[in-house]
Amino acid sequence: MAREQAAVLTGGAREIAPATGKLGVMLVGLGAVSTTFIAGVENVRRGRALPIGSLSQMATIRLGRRTEKRMPKIKDFVPLADLNDLVFTAWDPIPDDAYTAAVKAGVLDRHEHLDPIKPFLQGIKPMPAVFDQYYVKRLQGTNVKRGKNKRELAEQLREDMRTFKKSAGVDRLVVVWCASTEVFLTPGPAHQSLQAFEQAMEQNDQSIAPSMLYAYAALMESVPFANGAPNLTVDLPVMERLAEERHVPIGGKDFKTGQTMMKSVLAPAFKARMLGLSGWYSTNILGNRDGEVLDDPESFKTKEESKLGLLEHILQPELYPELYGKVYHKVRINYYPPRGDNKEGWDNIDIFGWLGYPMQIKVDFLCRDSILAAPIVLDLALFFDLAGRAGLSGIQEWLSFYFKSPQFAQGLYAEHDLFIQQTKLKNTLRWMMGEEQITHLGIEYYEYAEK
Ligand SMILES: NC(=O)c1ccc[n+]([C@@H]2O[C@H](COP(=O)([O-])OP(=O)(O)OC[C@H]3O[C@@H](n4cnc5c(N)ncnc54)[C@H](O)[C@@H]3O)[C@@H](O)[C@H]2O)c1
Repeated sequence: MAREQAAVLTGGAREIAPATGKLGVMLVGLGAVSTTFIAGVENVRRGRALPIGSLSQMATIRLGRRTEKRMPKIKDFVPLADLNDLVFTAWDPIPDDAYTAAVKAGVLDRHEHLDPIKPFLQGIKPMPAVFDQYYVKRLQGTNVKRGKNKRELAEQLREDMRTFKKSAGVDRLVVVWCASTEVFLTPGPAHQSLQAFEQAMEQNDQSIAPSMLYAYAALMESVPFANGAPNLTVDLPVMERLAEERHVPIGGKDFKTGQTMMKSVLAPAFKARMLGLSGWYSTNILGNRDGEVLDDPESFKTKEESKLGLLEHILQPELYPELYGKVYHKVRINYYPPRGDNKEGWDNIDIFGWLGYPMQIKVDFLCRDSILAAPIVLDLALFFDLAGRAGLSGIQEWLSFYFKSPQFAQGLYAEHDLFIQQTKLKNTLRWMMGEEQITHLGIEYYEYAEK
């Protein structure tokens, strides 16, 4: 093993700058997910609710041997920013403040979770967005920045970041993309180097989407960036290089919430038991604004790509052609307004077992999209801030746990299995703090135990 590799595995605690002062959480988009997140954190801060679904707040982490019984909460183990130190702001082309946007989103109960914190929410007014309807066909916005070219717009975003940092008196920033899914784009020549990207911004090149301008602005300001939608955004060679050069953590894409979370639990179970799969049909009905945006075929294509990839990665058909060589995988999203944010994700799974006998599984998940996404935004904001303070830069593979389509370095492949992702996350926290990795070997309790 190379010396550097050995150091990675056995090194002591990493130097982590303390989480002193305030953390500014800058959200791109002030829609259902963002407002559910902000209102949720404020309710938690006031002792009115629990941060359910958030690992950073609720999960424990085992340290050392099972017999040691050391199981602190993650938030007591690693130096995370305290919820009371979070300050929020957002950009959105729709000028509604966070209270109005939350009421329109219709996720949280107005009387129980919004009205009691109304002045707080009304105080969060979105900054004008970098928005272009070409990239999100179903939206129209009035709260939009103007500039002579895309580079100038990116400079305005950088200015917003500096201004917010000063005016809110925050020490550090983190940006989370919670805005609408943009149309499908593939990496092109403009995304290969900083020089090409900056030139393309000046020429208003169509391959530069607004989300990329936010990402560029954040990286230039040395601000960590997490991408909750399936747009490329930071998943581009130029952004990866920029993040490395500027020592900034990045990650994406697409929050792993309802149906895909279930897939990343069920598919590994089939593979673990060597059960075959012949088909997986997934359909969704949802009626929120996200559903409306995804009703546009070009935005849906971006989402579809993100949702389709995982089965193949988990099942490895190249290794198991008899079991997974002919899987028919279909994903549908249907905009159905009466449901609002209360999505229904329905899966029909055709599997086969011993001697090839077929069986079926049906999953009907009546979930609440933004209720599942909000704790992910919280964890990402806190862990990306931690990564920055721990000197980690570039792709944060250890946070794959939160993404449908995790970003990975060239030459690797994404890890989609939820439980491997969880192990990766917790082992990274142990590694940061100089604690032993947990291998789950277990034999040491038996073979080497003192008799
Ligand atoms: N809720 C989930 O479970 C979930 C899961 C995975 C991914 N996502 C993604 O998260 C994103 C947010 O979801 P949502 O339900 O809050 O959607 P939403 O439509 O309620 O909110 C998105 C907001 O982004 C704004 N927006 C669009 N383009 C923008 C731009 N260029 N700059 C700033 N703001 C912009 C819109 O005006 C809107 O207010 C979507 O892309 C969605 O696909 C959500």
